[in-house]
Amino acid sequence: MEKKKLYINGEWVEATSYTTLTSPYSGEPLAEIPVATESDVERAIEAAYQARNMMAKMPAHKRAAILEKVAEILQERAEEAAQMIALEAAKPITTAKAEVGRTIQTYKFAAEEAKRIHGETIPLDAAPGGENRVAFTVREPIGVIGAITPFNFPMNLVAHKLGPAIAAGNTIVLKPASQTPLSAYFIAELFEQAGLPKGALNVVTGSGKTVGDKLVTDERISMITFTGSPAVGIGIRNKAGLKKVTLELGSNSAVIVDEDVDVDSIIQRCVVGAFSFQGQVCISLQRIYVHEKRYEEFVEKFIAATKQLNVGDPLDPKTDVSALITPNDVERSLQWIEEAKQGGATVAVGGKRTGNILLPTVILHARPDMKVSCQEVFAPIVLINKVTSIDEAIELVNDSRYGLQAGIYTNNIHVAWEAVEKLQVGGVLINDIPTFRVDHMPYGGVKESGTGREGLRYAVEEMTELKLVIFNRNQ
Ligand code: SIN
Repeated sequence: MEKKKLYINGEWVEATSYTTLTSPYSGEPLAEIPVATESDVERAIEAAYQARNMMAKMPAHKRAAILEKVAEILQERAEEAAQMIALEAAKPITTAKAEVGRTIQTYKFAAEEAKRIHGETIPLDAAPGGENRVAFTVREPIGVIGAITPFNFPMNLVAHKLGPAIAAGNTIVLKPASQTPLSAYFIAELFEQAGLPKGALNVVTGSGKTVGDKLVTDERISMITFTGSPAVGIGIRNKAGLKKVTLELGSNSAVIVDEDVDVDSIIQRCVVGAFSFQGQVCISLQRIYVHEKRYEEFVEKFIAATKQLNVGDPLDPKTDVSALITPNDVERSLQWIEEAKQGGATVAVGGKRTGNILLPTVILHARPDMKVSCQEVFAPIVLINKVTSIDEAIELVNDSRYGLQAGIYTNNIHVAWEAVEKLQVGGVLINDIPTFRVDHMPYGGVKESGTGREGLRYAVEEMTELKLVIFNRNQ
């Protein structure tokens, strides 16, 4: 079995202890993963700190060329990369291939952004006393960035940290999710081949306490970028002091279906939104609010389409839904389904497990206070509820700790506009599900869904400091 190494200061380093990574689907061992000690993390941070001035001085065209090269090598090794994601995350292979395609795009967008980081001029004479002064801003790299990434997009969400960080001339210490470290080490190899200088990227796997806490509290690190659960995100913010922190957290995303909508035209899309990667997506479709005039038809057709889904081996191209990331997540999901049943909800389909797979589950008549509704399920569970008006639906969508993205299907422009104004989320999708992202768009949420935005241009802004320059021509 392959034994991975830590990546510190451009060297592949043996660890003092290892843990066995197993397949979430079959339980088979996949690789031995290094467990970093405090001194490993210390060396990784120091390497990134020492490399920061060199990266800050690297010209934009060189940073862009490295990112372009990573995209090019990844394209050549796309099949291998997709297999790796499918194995370590139990992501169905077609979805894993799509993730690799997106990762290539993310690095290409990052390369483009590297070449257009600039400030602006400011007319200081707009204020009395500002006459004969010329001001402009420049964007400077923030320094060392601690990146903590989740299991659900082990390659593309790593790219959303490394791409803009390097585009902006920063250095990084990356702690990938312990369930999916292989993709992160693979990407480190690609950066090494692409010519990224020593120390600019360091990858350390290990516990949240030893690695995560050190990154969050170490003074040499200027920024933390984290994607994961609200509980961990809030903990990071509380410990990070004056560091800049961007948090991409969870949600219980919703879509509203208006009375004038052709149900047939949206069913497949809604099924994909609910069950893609087993619902383990921050913008997964968890709550559907359908106008009473379309409710019965929608439920019937949605259930019929759900029954068509294939569950099984993530490496089988026919598989739509595979194992959850851990057996505990299957247990937790079943408990939440049971709680909903006990409270009077109806499980219309699914609600059972086969091995580590939770069957795609549709729940009707769930109350807003049930865990399956008010918490992030991160499992293939979707609720369909009847509403009598769009106002009622909007209120229900907003009755949430979260606010990442929400969708509304309607043919009424006034209803669409009202939704844009009233929905309390980072992104409103008209005539689409919330489960939509392309990699250059601003992505992030309000409330407990996080702070800051990703999407290359927006992440570059987060990962740079604005410096003001004033020339006084009165002298
Ligand atoms: C996420 O789950 O936070 C990311 C979703 C995506 O990139 O599609």
